[in-house]
Amino acid sequence: MTTKRSRVLLLVCSSRPGALGPAVGRWLADTLAPRADLLDVDLVPVAIGDLHLPFLDEEEHPSTGIHHHEHTRRWSSLVEGADGFVFVTPEYNYGMPATLKNALDYLGPEWAWKPAGFVSYGHTSAGTRAVQHAKQVVTTLRLVPLGSTVALRIADAMREDRFAPAARHAEAAEGLLEELVRVSRALAPLRERAHVDASPGPLPGSYTRRLGPDDAPEVTVLQRCCWVEEALANDTLAIPALHESPEDVRAWLNDWHTTGLWRDGRLLGMVRTRRTGADLHIGRLAVAPDLWGLGVGRWLLRRAEAAGEGCRRIILSTGAASHRNLTLYQQQGYAPLADAQDDGVVGLAKAVPA
Ligand SMILES: Cc1cc2nc3c(=O)[nH]c(=O)nc-3n(C[C@H](O)[C@H](O)[C@H](O)COP(=O)(O)O)c2cc1C
Repeated sequence: MTTKRSRVLLLVCSSRPGALGPAVGRWLADTLAPRADLLDVDLVPVAIGDLHLPFLDEEEHPSTGIHHHEHTRRWSSLVEGADGFVFVTPEYNYGMPATLKNALDYLGPEWAWKPAGFVSYGHTSAGTRAVQHAKQVVTTLRLVPLGSTVALRIADAMREDRFAPAARHAEAAEGLLEELVRVSRALAPLRERAHVDASPGPLPGSYTRRLGPDDAPEVTVLQRCCWVEEALANDTLAIPALHESPEDVRAWLNDWHTTGLWRDGRLLGMVRTRRTGADLHIGRLAVAPDLWGLGVGRWLLRRAEAAGEGCRRIILSTGAASHRNLTLYQQQGYAPLADAQDDGVVGLAKAVPA
């Protein structure tokens, strides 16, 4: 699970001149700012009116992800980059405003598996019928509506022509943000699954994707737990994988091509590759200890070797006393490099068939 900051869009849904919506949005952003800071959330206020979305004018179905118009592409990238949404919505004729329905209809997978909170306002019903209406629609898009809501009666919230709801509403808004962050983190594995390449892994439900700098926290944890065995077998703590900080890991994730094996948002294993001249270097082959003995390491090694096409040889290394690794590598055709013995580390290589 990632520890990066969450990005939450605060979407002001009304767009008519003189609308109350922008004042509600400003109150919400100001109210939530301190709590958002504590929760590592970036709040991004967006007025749907500023998006200049005409009535849906795309030819393709939104589920295809094919967007012909610039206004759709801009909207798509805003929604795609968000981890959750708070819809600041009025009630128009017992339902959500058409601006919100239109903005929802424009996109498909960009919404999926993200939490949707509602801050509604209106007269006697405080906008709650608009929220019920919207909830029914958003679930089709795999948005996940929150139980917490903030419902504001306009007459109660106005103080001398200023929009200033009571303190209990501010508390309700903070509760909504906290719930949104928890649900967003819980849904992260489902979002992750939606974005992977179609490459299945060796275990049921597992899948692979290239790791990037934002995966540094998970990689740091995985390699620390995996290289303890190496430390014990070789009676040394002088192993870089045990010492690297998340910042060190972030740096090499930029330089190496690293494949991660995932299941339900958990990083199960990894391997990294890099070409130098005619050599392919393979390293950091790791499998979570509870999954040893299932052939996962062998699978990751074969996957890494596939990057060696056009190379002359593949090179890797392990501890001189890491008998499990040495056996695996020798079974896969690697032979020790005569000149590479150094500080208890054995280099091994195998030729790549032409
Ligand atoms: C087209 C329209 C329909 C409305 N329908 C409702 C309604 O069904 N229930 C309600 O409580 N208020 C209704 N109102 C009053 C709104 O709650 C109030 O005008 C509010 O300020 C609208 O939000 P806005 O100023 O951000 O557009 C309606 C207002 C408009 C303009």
